Amino acid sequence: MAEFVVVANRLPVDLVTGEDGEQHWQAAPGGLVSALAPTLAARTGAWVGWPGVPDAAPEPFGDDTIGPDVTLHPVPLDADEIAAHYEGAANATLWPLYHDLIATPVYDRSWWSVHRTVNERFAAATADVADEGATVWVQDYQLQLVPRMLRERRPDLRIGFFLHIPFPPVELFQQLPWRSEVVDGLLGADLVGFHTPGGAANFRWLAQRLCGAEVDDGPIGLRTAGGEIRLGGRTTRVGAFPISIDSAAFARRGEDPSTADRARALRAELGDPATVLLGVDRLDYTKGIGVRLEAFSELLDTGRLDPATTVLVQVATPSRERVDAYRRTREEVERTVGRINGEHAGIGRPVVHYVHRSLPPDELAALYLAADVALVTPLRDGMNLVAKEYVATRPDDGGDLVLSEFTGAAEELTEARLVNPHDLDGVAAAIADAAAEVGSDASRRRMSALGAQVAEHDVARWAEAFLGALG
Ligand code: ADP
Ligand code: F6P
Repeated sequence: MAEFVVVANRLPVDLVTGEDGEQHWQAAPGGLVSALAPTLAARTGAWVGWPGVPDAAPEPFGDDTIGPDVTLHPVPLDADEIAAHYEGAANATLWPLYHDLIATPVYDRSWWSVHRTVNERFAAATADVADEGATVWVQDYQLQLVPRMLRERRPDLRIGFFLHIPFPPVELFQQLPWRSEVVDGLLGADLVGFHTPGGAANFRWLAQRLCGAEVDDGPIGLRTAGGEIRLGGRTTRVGAFPISIDSAAFARRGEDPSTADRARALRAELGDPATVLLGVDRLDYTKGIGVRLEAFSELLDTGRLDPATTVLVQVATPSRERVDAYRRTREEVERTVGRINGEHAGIGRPVVHYVHRSLPPDELAALYLAADVALVTPLRDGMNLVAKEYVATRPDDGGDLVLSEFTGAAEELTEARLVNPHDLDGVAAAIADAAAEVGSDASRRRMSALGAQVAEHDVARWAEAFLGALG
């Protein structure tokens, strides 16, 4: 039994089958795992989650990815449940709805019914591992029904919920046929955390309208629980807790001479260009990979960037590959990369280097160090940890950051070159300016301010603020 339990759709490791046919565990993709791994490593407890493949039901186990004092408790899903809950309700209904309808959400009743069953299974598994009076921290949009289901089984628990993606404007949220069920599900928690005060305020308004809750109308706290929502004799508090990274660990990697050596080698492999631009993302339509490729293409077309001296490296982790909108995004990105290289590359000298896989942490750090400008251009993103990782890895205050206004990170990283990703001219101008000013005093001053922000507000502070507010 555990006194502290993290519940997330995925375990921090996925069960994968290697080329030799043997199964092994491998770090799971995405910002949630990046943020929670160091948080949980510092504690004793349990992580309840799906192992990432159909029907896998291994016994609880420990794994070095997180640390010796954390037991991982697999929750099995069969292939139909993965299709309806994970690919369907989570990633073809809630994900696009919460990301401003960049793709059109599908409202499918049979998916939702499976989604409910899967949330029940997570609640039951958590009730089984949580000690009397334990603290349980439920994560993200896939498990919004769990707090209420868990509270009904285990009223003794202290339950927190954190949403890692944006909470949408109320007009959009109201499209969801199961909107009251979701809000009521979250109100089973003692504390519901969002990245931004705006998301928390939207949720509070909906709790009043859809569930008849009594609410405070004061300002929402930043890194504290401000607003109170009262329903059925219980109080749920809400607050904004912008997530972050293990800043010191990234800084250490950035300062490591072997990272600098690898960064130099990478630039040499790229043909020693004058300017290296970098994008690092899960391959997701929210990330605005197409936006930055189009802006880059226009800069080459118009001669504002020289293809002989500039390269763009785009690293894209495969993601949700069975969901239609993701397939289409991959096709579009790869078509655009092909077109730009077709028009501007020399023989043996691509102008866009596209890598469709995950990279190990050391290689990612070397890329961060090698890049003159990081391009983070999502159409909508809850936070975006890549922006923070890039800034934290640069010990020299070198580099530059072009950052979409539509990320949670933009509310904190105000010294970045903020862009509206829908304004292609604006994005192109910011990239051109950043490339022209590489190494300038102005860009160093900005990177220094960004570095200080990320160093101060790291993931340990995020977790302490949330868990402190949870009590
Ligand atoms: P999301 O949670 O939507 O995937 P974030 O930017 O918040 O987006 O977090 C992404 C995380 O995944 C970061 O920690 C980043 O380092 C990691 N990541 C993204 N792309 C890659 C890649 N190609 N290889 C390795 N790690 C990656
Ligand atoms: O917060 C974004 C998020 O959806 C996390 O919940 C998840 O761990 C990560 O991105 C990766 O997504 P997936 O689990 O669908 O591969």
